[in-house]
Amino acid sequence: MAKQKITTKYVCSECGSVTPGWMGKCPTCGKFGTINEEVETPAKSTENKIRQPYAKPVKLSEISDEKITRVKTGIDEFDTVLGGGIVSSSLVLIGGDPGIGKSTLMTQVAGILSKKARVLYASAEESHGQVKIRCDRLGISGENLMIMNETCLNNIIDEANDYDVLIVDSIQAVYLEELSGSSGSVGQVKECASKLMRFAKSTKTTVFIVGHVTKDGAIAGPKVLEHIMDTVLYFEGQPEDNYKLLRAVKNRFGSAQEVGVFEMRENGIFGVKDYNGIFVSEERGSESGSVVTPSVSGNRCMPVEIQTLLSKTVFGMPRRMPLGVDYNRTAFLLAVLEKRAYMPFYSFDVYATAMGGIKLSEPSADLAIAIALASSYKNVPVEKTTCVFGEIGLTGEIRPVMQAEKRVLESIKLGFKKVVLPARNYAQVEKYKQRIEIVPVKHVYQAVKTLLDDGKNGQ
Ligand SMILES: Nc1ncnc2c1ncn2[C@@H]1O[C@H](COP(=O)(O)OP(=O)(O)O)[C@@H](O)[C@H]1O
Ligand SMILES: [Mg+2]
Repeated sequence: MAKQKITTKYVCSECGSVTPGWMGKCPTCGKFGTINEEVETPAKSTENKIRQPYAKPVKLSEISDEKITRVKTGIDEFDTVLGGGIVSSSLVLIGGDPGIGKSTLMTQVAGILSKKARVLYASAEESHGQVKIRCDRLGISGENLMIMNETCLNNIIDEANDYDVLIVDSIQAVYLEELSGSSGSVGQVKECASKLMRFAKSTKTTVFIVGHVTKDGAIAGPKVLEHIMDTVLYFEGQPEDNYKLLRAVKNRFGSAQEVGVFEMRENGIFGVKDYNGIFVSEERGSESGSVVTPSVSGNRCMPVEIQTLLSKTVFGMPRRMPLGVDYNRTAFLLAVLEKRAYMPFYSFDVYATAMGGIKLSEPSADLAIAIALASSYKNVPVEKTTCVFGEIGLTGEIRPVMQAEKRVLESIKLGFKKVVLPARNYAQVEKYKQRIEIVPVKHVYQAVKTLLDDGKNGQ
């Protein structure tokens, strides 16, 4: 049979127009960096004429139950983030900055799984020797673990047919020969991931894809393939920090908010059970600008300390430098504090950080960030045994948040003496008032007054 001719085309991901070659700017919609190379497999002429049989609708009640079987990897924190273990035929993306520990974690997972399943570790970045050195360091003997040093994805897929688990490290280093783009280009990354998705769905193999997130993650990073994945996990934290967080940002088989806390050691990466001291410092309470908030991620509640610092602006433009706290959220809270709590920040550079490299994205951290900023502004520290949570609206009102009870219970467990929370959450947690002082607040101005008012004003 004649080999099917495969051609490539260049398509804009924004408007869908086809261009003759790669361009920086789409000539149709004018967007930059949206032209991607795609494989075009022409359908056989007969296929166009014969109507394909289609799947008839079925009554929901008549669909037989399909049980999701999960296999535990043995690394508890990893299983939690996955939603209870790995699911066969699923496609999982492990993303993160280079050097953060993706290969380390996947090697450990491969080592454990290879005791009960057939695992193929396709290492496209490192040689057999390098993988062996890492395995020795991690104490993995890997009797049944197969390592393949290959960059051609078609070869990897041909080989992986007989395996239960395939790990591709990394998606940026593999390529499809049908595409002319170099490995790591958006076209290659997308097509390779689609091919792996089709492979995972047509077999029982679980596929793990390792992907580097570059600073401009939206371009060469794996962000472009999040939608075809069943589960997307991202490593957070600084590569030089010992503690790393693995966060599920999408999960078709579990909660998409789960977070796993890991510690990088010489002999591998390990789940941390007692994470309470990681995101808060012992010294808090002595200096202004630091506030603790009980932050909920998936099923767990973790106390996280927010620290802020104000310094006089030297140049005309005040700088806003949030780290781990959203930039826009910080700007929003500064505007609310200026207008509703009468604290002008225009002559200050603002630095704000969430401790331990965690990214605080939930709105319930608003009040803690605002109080930390106000504490810096007034130069009044917040009590060490006080914690704060609540969402702030543009009018300065404190809005109720989800899982208030869980946050209060965790605060009690960790020995906090006082919790400041939205007034509309008070009814849910009133029953705990014997165990912790509960201060309901309605407005950001009231919260600032309650926590920081001791007569001092301004730096
Ligand atoms: N011999 C070693 N001892 C201790 N830590 C090491 C050693 N070699 C590598 N590491 C740690 O492992 C990390 C690299 O992890 P790796 O899994 O290769 O990252 P990634 O695959 O995400 O790029 C490095 O940041 C380093 O901290
Ligand atoms: Mg690696």
